[in-house]
Amino acid sequence: MEITRRGFFFGAAAAVAGTAWGNDGVDNNLTVFLSDIHISGIGIQGQPTYQNPLLDKVIDQVLALRPRPRRAVVFGDVALWRGYAADYAESAPRLKRLSDAGIEVTVTTGNHDHRVPLFAAFPDQAKRTPVPGRVTSVVDLGTADLLLLDSLNENAEGEGSNNAVAGTLDDGQAKWLKGWATDAKRPFFVGAHHPPEEVPLDGHNLLDTLETNPRFAGYIHGHNHRWYRRWYHNGYSRRHVVRIACLPSTGWWGTIGFAFFRTFADRAELSLAPGNDFFFPKPLGPGEQRPPEWDDIVNEERGGKCLFHYQA
Ligand SMILES: [Fe+2]
Repeated sequence: MEITRRGFFFGAAAAVAGTAWGNDGVDNNLTVFLSDIHISGIGIQGQPTYQNPLLDKVIDQVLALRPRPRRAVVFGDVALWRGYAADYAESAPRLKRLSDAGIEVTVTTGNHDHRVPLFAAFPDQAKRTPVPGRVTSVVDLGTADLLLLDSLNENAEGEGSNNAVAGTLDDGQAKWLKGWATDAKRPFFVGAHHPPEEVPLDGHNLLDTLETNPRFAGYIHGHNHRWYRRWYHNGYSRRHVVRIACLPSTGWWGTIGFAFFRTFADRAELSLAPGNDFFFPKPLGPGEQRPPEWDDIVNEERGGKCLFHYQA
């Protein structure tokens, strides 16, 4: 992959892998994963807004990609803290820049979102959800599907209230997910805002239920604002392990950036996009010294990848 003034180019990598893209300059096997965008409504007392232009920067980077990705997925925490309609009034037009450019946008909830204002700002989500009342989606990733769950444990007071930080999975989504997994005709990933330990299925970590499914290809989440990859095993009687990846935040705190997700006939590759940064808990103010470990983290994470093997 090469970075030029016009953007990121995948030509060399695509030629090696035999990947092709259409005459419209869009790669059907390429998706960008964004998470924890934490966009703040303007004028809400006490809400910082430094993260808003950092999402704009990520969107500029995505729009500069050649070929263009077919789709973008936002893994929750669309709103800053309490899911105000004003927060979505700032996030929806920003993400619309992607859909206006022909990039399909899918969002789900995080613990800082509220469903009513989110559905109002992203009405397509209500039309496409297979589980009414939940911000759930099936995303075609090219050679696999992403079952994007709504893991928000919402406070009944709704907009403007704080939710539980930990995730959950309601019975409706659990039933739908198990049905999909049983009938799956091709590989599928499961994604949500929360890590799998907080998305229970049948009273257990959902990976306990899914890991024996031959079509289950891996799990991707946000929430922790860290770029990390790990693996899961269910006991010591099997060789198979499940890959799990956590996505960066586009601009709130922690690892800052986004990720590419590219599918092939026999695998998918998740990679941290060039240009990643790190800050905690907010960007430096005037005159502040940048701690050396921030650069260490940036340098250590740059170019990081996670592979998922499957049979399409
Ligand atoms: Fe977050």
